[in-house]
Amino acid sequence: MQTVKSVITWIVLGGSAATLAACTTTKPPAEKPAAAPAAPITAAAAANMGSNCFTCHGPEGRSPGSIPSLHGKTAESLVKTLQDFKSGARPSTVMARHAKGYSDAEIAAIAKYISSFK
Ligand code: HEC
Repeated sequence: MQTVKSVITWIVLGGSAATLAACTTTKPPAEKPAAAPAAPITAAAAANMGSNCFTCHGPEGRSPGSIPSLHGKTAESLVKTLQDFKSGARPSTVMARHAKGYSDAEIAAIAKYISSFK
């Protein structure tokens, strides 16, 4: 009887150990850390990027020459135009190259900055 009991004990213990082991090995791989969210674009960063535009489009987007003014345009319309330049939907000489250099979030931030001049 003693032998049977110890065999049963062995099975029970072994069984639970095996279950534990199975639990450990079948555990799903550690969750991948979520892709780091893009750093939020600060107002200063938006101003830096937006100021590049003023080299051609004039201070605060008030163009002194033949390049169209950006002053007075809404953020929505600037985003739309820049996205169209980026995709090529709107033909351009230089703007596609500029627009392609910015992420969607950057374009939104630049548009907000440029449209902030009243
Ligand atoms: C090298 C000069 C230059 C720079 C820098 C530049 N642009 Fe332009 N932009 C142009 C020219 C030229 C056009 C006319 C379209 C074309 O030929 O590319 C234009 C057109 C535009 C238009 C369309 C305006 C309209 O009424 O038709 C928008 C909007 C615009 N640019 C936004 C920007 C923004 C925002 C930036 C900064 C990220 C920027 N541009 C930087 C030269 C420039």
